[in-house]
Amino acid sequence: MLAHRLQLLSQGRPSRQSQVAARPLRVRTRPCPVQQRGRAVLARVSTVKRPESFAPDSISWDEDVAGYNFLSKEEEYVNSVDEEDGNCPVYIDREGNIINVMCCDYGFRSNSGRLYQEGYGKIPHSMWHLAWANFAQEWTQLRRSFRYDEYGKIAAVNPPQGPLGKASYAAGSAVVRLFSRLDRWLEERRLFSALLPEALPKEVFDTKTGSMTESCKQIRSKLAQLKLSNKAVWDREHAREAAGGGVDTPWFVKGIYLSLCVFLDVAYDNRPLQRFWFLETVARMPYFSYITMLHLYESFGWWRAGAELRKVHFAEEWNEMHHLQIMESLGGDQLWVDRFMAQHAAIVYYIILVGLFTLSPQLAYNFSELIEAHAVDTYGEFADANKELLQTLPPPLVAAQYYLSGDYYLFDEFQTSLSGGSLRTPKCDTLYDVFINIRDDEGEHVKTMAACQDFSIMDDLEVRRETERRI
Ligand SMILES: [Fe+2]
Ligand SMILES: [Fe+2]
Repeated sequence: MLAHRLQLLSQGRPSRQSQVAARPLRVRTRPCPVQQRGRAVLARVSTVKRPESFAPDSISWDEDVAGYNFLSKEEEYVNSVDEEDGNCPVYIDREGNIINVMCCDYGFRSNSGRLYQEGYGKIPHSMWHLAWANFAQEWTQLRRSFRYDEYGKIAAVNPPQGPLGKASYAAGSAVVRLFSRLDRWLEERRLFSALLPEALPKEVFDTKTGSMTESCKQIRSKLAQLKLSNKAVWDREHAREAAGGGVDTPWFVKGIYLSLCVFLDVAYDNRPLQRFWFLETVARMPYFSYITMLHLYESFGWWRAGAELRKVHFAEEWNEMHHLQIMESLGGDQLWVDRFMAQHAAIVYYIILVGLFTLSPQLAYNFSELIEAHAVDTYGEFADANKELLQTLPPPLVAAQYYLSGDYYLFDEFQTSLSGGSLRTPKCDTLYDVFINIRDDEGEHVKTMAACQDFSIMDDLEVRRETERRI
């Protein structure tokens, strides 16, 4: 059963990424020179001391367009990715093809620390322990956001517009300067710990020279060139509506939807990856809220007919989680302020949707249909506008793991309008393929949300029961 086992192999020495990601996975058994080499290499896991030249302080924040993060640690670290030495991880897809994936991971939870394989086989600590650890990490990031002016970097790519915007920016800049001085003053009196400048993930460095690998430099540069026009997204949405693809919705739901869209346009103008990361953080919440409510109704003994629907919603949430991790791997979650906004917005959104589902499941599904249709337009516009550039970039590791896995179960499960021969078999050779896949995933979410409103989802599930599973 080779097809439903994924493998990560290193072409040279093992990368930290491949070691951690490969840990819970089986190495394939079919003889293959490349795989045999990779398997042998995986056994030679070693640690090396950080080179003297590898000094995070020497990396200027200003060199970094998107504000990437460095998790500074003084301990030994596992020898990391180095493309020049042939250490980029590769992924073996379901057909046995070798897929080159990005050598670098630019997420705040850098590299394998972000993937869901991290901590495989463990259960979390107590909520207090986790909350405190997260607070300690984010507290440092909050201080950095003032001291190294993350907000100025946002304004550099998204300048304030109009008198109100400029006045808000001036007031905000004054607050940032004030907190920055206060932080420095407290640090000088040893009331706060010393704060190092932000730097880059250690995985992007050549362990021999201490400098960033050429591949990582190029990819970072290209990611910074990706563009998204708000106007083009709106044009696309209006064209869809004019062609009969609009979503019927009450005026107050439409009002909330438009408010959210305007917020995204203003806060994330010229920052498409951050915008997508925000959206995907929030996008998981509807499905979580539906599962919550369906489960609750079952527990109360009120209504059990939706039990099968929970499987669909879980598969949808699983799909959104992978969209989120893809955006993280591209650096969408690097800034403290973006994480703060998205994660708090997600919790508020969840509570609102639980309340909305309580009052009217149709309205809750209707609102999601609106959002998902907007996501189709946004990702479609982004993929078209950046096609040439995206085609020159490899997919992130997590995208290959999700779209090329031999296990189709959760991938098929959320696409309730598809069955038999129409089931999707996505490709994932480049970052362009990744965004096309995400666009198409969002399109399937639209269909499922519509089917949940008119109850045709029950017919879809009936067909699904009779469809042979793909493995
Ligand atoms: Fe999504
Ligand atoms: Fe979605």
